[in-house]
Amino acid sequence: MSALGACLELSDDESPDVPSGTDDPGSLPERQHAWNESLATDEDGNVLLPEHHVLVPLSLTTSIDDDARETVETSLRTLERAYEWSNAGLVFTIGYTPAYFERFDASLPDAVDLPAPEPLAPGEDPAFDEYDALLHLASDDPAVVLEAEEGLFGDRKKVNDHDVETDLADVFDRLEDRRRTGFVGEGLPAEHADVDGVPESIPEEAPFFMGFRSGFSASQASEDRVTIEAGPFAGGTTQHVESMDVNLTQWFEQENHYQRVSKLFSPEHAREELVGQVGEKLGTSNGLTTERIEATDADARDPGVVGHAQKTARAREDGSPLLLRRDFNTVDGDRPGVHFLSLQRRIGEFVRVRDEMTGADLEVPEANNGILHYVFVERRGNYLVPPRSLRALPPAIPG
Ligand code: HEM
Repeated sequence: MSALGACLELSDDESPDVPSGTDDPGSLPERQHAWNESLATDEDGNVLLPEHHVLVPLSLTTSIDDDARETVETSLRTLERAYEWSNAGLVFTIGYTPAYFERFDASLPDAVDLPAPEPLAPGEDPAFDEYDALLHLASDDPAVVLEAEEGLFGDRKKVNDHDVETDLADVFDRLEDRRRTGFVGEGLPAEHADVDGVPESIPEEAPFFMGFRSGFSASQASEDRVTIEAGPFAGGTTQHVESMDVNLTQWFEQENHYQRVSKLFSPEHAREELVGQVGEKLGTSNGLTTERIEATDADARDPGVVGHAQKTARAREDGSPLLLRRDFNTVDGDRPGVHFLSLQRRIGEFVRVRDEMTGADLEVPEANNGILHYVFVERRGNYLVPPRSLRALPPAIPG
């Protein structure tokens, strides 16, 4: 349903019929980002993100008081009652920007690293997410995502046959020009070949636009690793959203499979044919051994190309990745792109990984420096995703 991109309205006969949620929303995990346990897995055991996503930007229109907090909490609980917390139902988070927290006299506690967004790579000039909050809604059923959003904002009386009692529009304006949508999953990128800039040559089975599987368990941080451990926001996490255009025409029509594997994984992955057509030869790991990661520098000089995964893996700590990536493809604006959404304990950790992706230390031609030559960053935003108990308009210093 590429209609997700543009369409904000759902007719009544498109109303989804999916498993209901819980009558006791208090029974859901304290971490809003605790999705993995409830999500599906692929045949190798890697977590499969829901296929359809919407990022709904929100601007606060009222003062923050008990009534406003109750409206937000009741609205979100309605979704938890209506939809099972799963791929078939709905998973979601709400996160708050540094701009939101500026209205408070107090600053965020030390354990929360949430700087204002800034450019992170040479030559980029992104716009920044400077509104207050962002809802991330995700489901395998595009109609669920649309219905949930409409229900929150008073455009539906029922969601999945559950009554809607509150209207989030009493508290927030939805910024429709900043709304973002996307999809991820086997076959979905190829289905978008009707969009300008999406070549027919995208492999049929690829879950991501650049043609390969991603998100292998061993190259993802665990939910524990990205969770804030101390202070009143313990149980929360930080989120970075980097929205970018991707030049798929050049990627698929000027590069061959060997070059694409070299640039996304590593030159050795290409030489040893470790990946397969779309990553089917890999199981729960992207195949990056310590040796392959340490070879990045040498690969830059000979054969003169480094892989994106190889390079970013240099930021691993004690062998473990720092980021939990929940990125997805998009055709917002009728052109191909990626909304790279990542969770990590501290925004500073995202910046470290991004620096490794830039690879300023590597003596390698720009066109062979991973995927940098093909991606164009348009927008960045930083968010605090508080624990569930503080998700409704949190103060800077709770309690
Ligand atoms: C168009 C954008 C992007 C695409 C298509 C892409 C694709 C991929 C692929 C195919 C892998 C290897 C498979 C895997 O390990 O799951 C990977 C790994 C990775 N990517 Fe990206 N990526 C993109 C942007 C980014 C950005 C902006 C970052 C942030 C710095 C990033 C960070 C990582 C990390 C940390 C890994 C895993 C490294 C490890 O194994 O430790 N990626 N990416």
